[in-house]
Amino acid sequence: MQEKILIIGSSGQIGTELVTALRKIYCENNVIASDIKPSSYEVMNSGPFEKLDIMDEQLLNFIVKKYKVTQVYLLAALLSATAEKNIELGWALNMRSHSHVLDLARHGLIKKIFWPSSIAVFGPTTPKINTPQYTVMEPNTVYGISKQAGERWNEYYWNNFNVDVRSIRFPGLIGWKSNPGGGTTDYAVEIFHEAITKNKYNCFLNPSTMLPMMYMKDAIRATIELMESETKKIKIRSSYNLGGISFSPKEIGEEIKKHIPKFNISYNEDFRQKIADSWPASINDEHAQKDWGWNLEYDLKKMTEDMIKNLTIKYQRQSI
Ligand code: SER
Repeated sequence: MQEKILIIGSSGQIGTELVTALRKIYCENNVIASDIKPSSYEVMNSGPFEKLDIMDEQLLNFIVKKYKVTQVYLLAALLSATAEKNIELGWALNMRSHSHVLDLARHGLIKKIFWPSSIAVFGPTTPKINTPQYTVMEPNTVYGISKQAGERWNEYYWNNFNVDVRSIRFPGLIGWKSNPGGGTTDYAVEIFHEAITKNKYNCFLNPSTMLPMMYMKDAIRATIELMESETKKIKIRSSYNLGGISFSPKEIGEEIKKHIPKFNISYNEDFRQKIADSWPASINDEHAQKDWGWNLEYDLKKMTEDMIKNLTIKYQRQSI
């Protein structure tokens, strides 16, 4: 049977790259992009796009029926920093969109769901180093609480209604094609843009704040590998830990300096420091490795090289 894939949140950091990757595998017309705002030129011009406010359950049902959608990737969410500023919207949007999509599968309209979770499900009482899959989880941000609740619902829908929902606890994601919006880990993308355009960056986290991060190429590959794995291999239905690479602002600053010697980083902590301090420094992902063969490709050095190379080309093209 021909898969028809709906990406909700195609204008966001993950969506921008995932739509293109999935269109290469499943053909342009079988991957429907959707978002409340227009997506990138590439996404808008390489296949179908539907304007969708994820709170509009009726419109979601209509789109799913119109295209005979079989799989949904629900990427729309309010991230950690934005959700702290609007807790009602953060909770409503993150939770309602998730339950709408889970119910589509429960009622037999779709077959498979991808829903990203986050390192934000962990909290200040979680062991910080090499954080295990199963551990104390007391998130203290709205975003983290919504992701933790979402993970519980995933597992519940799998156990009780056989809903094939798959999930990854993403670390901070770093890519050059799209910008993050409203997260605590956003500094690790901003730093590259400012290093290339201004040779300096003022970081909103302190120099020693160690956080897990991942290059977008690895994150996209992980998502597709998880979704394409045989059902019997997926032993965890809440969400899988993925480790990625752990570094501090100081360490990434030093790595960037190897390519841009004039680069200078300064620090000015804001409210996001408290959020970062509540999250792990490094993550253990042995379950993902064992269950569906996860293997990281990009370390800090390789990621920095690739980011600087591609972003420099991007800025050069824009200035022509
Ligand atoms: N990158 C996200 C954030 O910072 C975490 O999932 O909010």
